Amino acid sequence: MTDTATPAVIHRADYAPPAFLIDSVTLEFDLVPARTIVKNSMRMRRNPDAARAARLELMGEQLELVSVAVNGVPHAAARAHEHGLTLDDVPDTFELTIVSACAPAENTTLSGLYVSSDNFFTQCEAEGFRRITYFLDRPDVMTTYTVTLRADKAAYPVLLSNGNLIEEGDLADGRHFAKWEDPFKKPSYLFALVAGRLVALEERIKSVSGKEKLLQVWVEPHDLDKTRHAMESLIHSIRWDEERFGLELDLDRFMIVAVSDFNMGAMENKGLNIFNTKYVLANPETATDTDFANIEAVVGHEYFHNWTGNRVTCRDWFQLSLKEGLTVFRDQEFSADMAGGATDETARAVKRIEDVRVLRQMQFAEDSGPMAHPVRPESYVEINNFYTMTVYEKGAEVVRMYQTLFGRDGFRRGMDLYFKRHDGQAVACDDFRLALADANGRDLAQFERWYSQAGTPRVTVETAYDADAQRYTVTLKQGYGDAAPAARATQKGPLLIPFAIGLIGRDGADLPLRLEGESAASGTTRVLDFTETEQTFTFVDVREAPLPSLLRNFSAPVVVEYDYTADELAFLLAHDSDPFNRWEAGQRLATRELLALAARAAENAPLQLDDSVVTAFARVLTDETLSPAFRELALMLPSEAYLAEQMAESNPAAVHRARQFVRKRLAAALREAWLAIYDRHRTPGAYAPTPEAAGHRGLKNLALAYLAELDDPADAVKLATAQYAEANNMTDRAAALSALLAASTSKETPAAESALADFYRRFEKEPLVIDKWFALQATQRGSAARPIIDVVRKLMTHPAFNIKNPNRARSLIFSFCSANPAQFHAEDGSGYAFWAEQVIALDALNPQVAARLARALELWRRYTPVLREKMRAALEQVASQVKSRDVREIVEKALV
Ligand code: PHE
Ligand code: ZN
Repeated sequence: MTDTATPAVIHRADYAPPAFLIDSVTLEFDLVPARTIVKNSMRMRRNPDAARAARLELMGEQLELVSVAVNGVPHAAARAHEHGLTLDDVPDTFELTIVSACAPAENTTLSGLYVSSDNFFTQCEAEGFRRITYFLDRPDVMTTYTVTLRADKAAYPVLLSNGNLIEEGDLADGRHFAKWEDPFKKPSYLFALVAGRLVALEERIKSVSGKEKLLQVWVEPHDLDKTRHAMESLIHSIRWDEERFGLELDLDRFMIVAVSDFNMGAMENKGLNIFNTKYVLANPETATDTDFANIEAVVGHEYFHNWTGNRVTCRDWFQLSLKEGLTVFRDQEFSADMAGGATDETARAVKRIEDVRVLRQMQFAEDSGPMAHPVRPESYVEINNFYTMTVYEKGAEVVRMYQTLFGRDGFRRGMDLYFKRHDGQAVACDDFRLALADANGRDLAQFERWYSQAGTPRVTVETAYDADAQRYTVTLKQGYGDAAPAARATQKGPLLIPFAIGLIGRDGADLPLRLEGESAASGTTRVLDFTETEQTFTFVDVREAPLPSLLRNFSAPVVVEYDYTADELAFLLAHDSDPFNRWEAGQRLATRELLALAARAAENAPLQLDDSVVTAFARVLTDETLSPAFRELALMLPSEAYLAEQMAESNPAAVHRARQFVRKRLAAALREAWLAIYDRHRTPGAYAPTPEAAGHRGLKNLALAYLAELDDPADAVKLATAQYAEANNMTDRAAALSALLAASTSKETPAAESALADFYRRFEKEPLVIDKWFALQATQRGSAARPIIDVVRKLMTHPAFNIKNPNRARSLIFSFCSANPAQFHAEDGSGYAFWAEQVIALDALNPQVAARLARALELWRRYTPVLREKMRAALEQVASQVKSRDVREIVEKALV
């Protein structure tokens, strides 16, 4: 956090290799909360591949320099300053020893070395290591670490760092030590240490080549009963990477540690992954099906980084998607394989739909605003602001397109070549693309644009059928529509878009596909190589006018524009063999209807719903050939945020009215069906978080949520009250509570208040459940008589609220500001005033978290004039008061 007037912009084009390299580093920590002493000894030498530098510049922040010695001799020409340490006159090869101090107990940023629940933790990505010691804190400086930790034995019985434990023992004054050695070279952002009173669940397994591995999940003692699922997820991850990619765990020991104060989800430190408790701790009473699935995904994600991120890392932070996009793709595939194996297409589609929903709602929005940036950004002010949906989720889509182009085997060949070429190196996104190209004998020069162009591509489709010639032509055009200025500046030319397509006949079955020039038909889904601004593809032998199924399985991260009629969408919803597109057809149908209603709501015109929508949805709801999980997704309406985003002028109140109107109509028209569904999909017996059981619960709880929308919600209140009391798992209990809160907006019910109070008492000692308690209240529907801002402000004073804990801040503040649009965007500006207060408060404590919250207003220009002006005022107020580089970058870009 700096306080300069104009923060410096870092450009990708300015990359230069480091002037010095570090051959090895030895760290000694004397861990004391108020003042920890770090002794850092580095074997350094000049980099033969870099220009000769006059001085050595080490990065350092918030450090107190104690001493510097070069080859054992105190070094006079060393200058400590705000950003680090400058050493003049250093030899070509030398041993540099630096002693410094830092203050972990004071560290509220949760970057560097900090204290949480009286234990020590570190977080070094991206640039936290420089808050621990002076260093060449950049990912292309890789070295081997030997780390000694010393601390009071009673307070900190467990001392962990990366790699292997090579020595431990007692010291004088009740202290003890542990010495760790990591045999693999790594960049500083992968360093970690943990010290404290922790216990572990342990397992020993043999990896594919027969080597014994020790696996540990470390938590605070009272959480040991919530570690089993994380351990199982870890074992599944290890097996999956062996099988799918031939990648084996390379250390003898692999540790996961849970910490309750953490800025992000989790961190892939070599051999010592540190996790937000939210992505580790679970048992049926405290965690929902979604939590169980998220834990599996995040454990997988961090484990997979061991190869994609750690063994091969990033040359510089502009290449972040090299590890993140690839690793998100890998965790998505892992989850899909766990749910559906390689062949259950519907189960795989459920995961795909969930991922695409997130992409379209969050990444597309990001790509349309002032923070739009390419998957490989060109510049940044604060790198922490670029851990984005674009780098992660769009990056994963870019990786997925290689697999769509080359198939699973071709993708695997590319991965093999990538590791063969780059194991142990810090490389760039281009190196990954070239490995995929070379392994598959294809020129992927054009594909580079997916890394350099921002904005969401739009593909418009026109089709024509010539009955006499039995030819069907599909003309595709690509462009970016009216992209935001930030995105427009990066756009140079057409992309290589793998465009998957199928043609459906009148009976609902796929037609065989033969493109002009081919000797015979093959397959019913084809991936078209769409490379030009406009391109026409001709299918021959097409016996009847088909209905096109476009962009099957969402084969590229684009918006498809095609004029389907409502009847055609209903037909696709009923028949498309591609489960993703079946879902997509329903979403298009609903979106179109909802947007029309929102436009009317904006003018206070009466609302009316076309019966065809109800009929189409009813058909899916009662189609027993479809899995419950799929039906749940199909019956879920597009979110308010997504809908508001599609309007010429975002109007959250109108969207809310329109969406609520449709929900109520679907609730009333299908009341009997919902009741039947509720009954049929109860899952009696012991809880299991399997995708199948979760699907039943999900559909049942969706039915409950719809029933709670009825003007007379008596059925829902009765069912939810019983479900709340009898639940043997958090999924059902939380869904029941949520239904009671929803029902109480149409009709006051004492059941809601008493369930809320019971929930708090029951789970008072489970912070992650109390987070849900805050979030449920912050996201509930309000009314003119009961605006939710009042509820939120009152909860801010609750003894369990603590703004310093990111999970808790997210559960109340972020939930309200980002997940309750109709209430947050209240016309009186009360939501924005609250937002400004909280951004400013967080800015002083934790700039990373503050900057995330700051982003809640970045699309302000897209809203109705009344809201827009109030948002601008709030942004300007924040811009004039915040100190951190993190928040300033966000609000200044928003106001440009
Ligand atoms: N690298 C982490 C992940 O994706 C995310 C992270 C970034 C965590 C920065 C902490 C700090 O898995
Ligand atoms: Zn990651």
